[in-house]
Amino acid sequence: MPALTQTFWKYWYQYLSGRIGSDAVTFLNYGYWPPEGETLPLDSQDEIDRPSIQLYHHVAGVSSLEGKNVLEVSCGHGGGASFLTRYHRPASYTAIDQNPKAIDFCRRTHAPLNIDFRIGDAQALDFPENSFDAVINVEASHCYPDQAAFYASVKHVLKTGGQLLHADFRPRDELLQWEKDIADNFQVASKTDITPHVIRALQRTTERFRALAHRLSPKILHRAMETFAGIEGSAIYNSFVNGERTYLSFQLVKPA
Ligand SMILES: C[S@@+](CC[C@H](N)C(=O)[O-])C[C@H]1O[C@@H](n2cnc3c(N)ncnc32)[C@H](O)[C@@H]1O
Repeated sequence: MPALTQTFWKYWYQYLSGRIGSDAVTFLNYGYWPPEGETLPLDSQDEIDRPSIQLYHHVAGVSSLEGKNVLEVSCGHGGGASFLTRYHRPASYTAIDQNPKAIDFCRRTHAPLNIDFRIGDAQALDFPENSFDAVINVEASHCYPDQAAFYASVKHVLKTGGQLLHADFRPRDELLQWEKDIADNFQVASKTDITPHVIRALQRTTERFRALAHRLSPKILHRAMETFAGIEGSAIYNSFVNGERTYLSFQLVKPA
């Protein structure tokens, strides 16, 4: 089963990147809508991606990245890497993903930003011990068949006291194992249930995501694409609303 999961996500994301081609789709997440009054100032060219950017800002904003050496695991099409590099000013930003088409897209699309994009596996990070001050991981760990290996690998490449800034979702019956894998490797500085904020973001992105899903796939795949995109009324969206799936964000610290 894990090998099947790995193969599914690997080819699904390669298919998606192939369909997206040179379209300006730089985020592959469900987004976050903050509480009233917490408006993140953005440049006008970033407004289109506000919900996805707000998710990255929510995850990474708990700690200053300024002057830090940052690794992002599973960067997808690099929108988060671009936002964090431009707005949060790290000293260096390295970003990996297992999808070669996504890495190729990132290198072409975000070329001026001096981000080191590489192909890599989240479960076996190919960097020396104690390399990074912070690791970012957004809406990707549910794809990894060996999640314990992912957390151990992040711990290995982080410096002592370094932080894993993390968000993702799980079905209800996987929550306990998820939190155990985390607690085996990190001190939990904060944990927040952001499901209501993700639902609010999905309500705002439904029309855009529906149009995108239809443009990027043949008719026979429209329903699957809509579900994957989490549009209102889809199985994924409903599972957030009825509590079958929970979306959590974490600030995790590598202990001494
Ligand atoms: C939902 S997308 C999120 C991408 C990005 N973090 C974002 O928010 O836009 C999940 C990403 O995880 C990547 N991924 C899945 N399994 C992986 C693995 N074993 N190692 C590295 N990346 C992986 C996929 O290729 C995909 O880009």
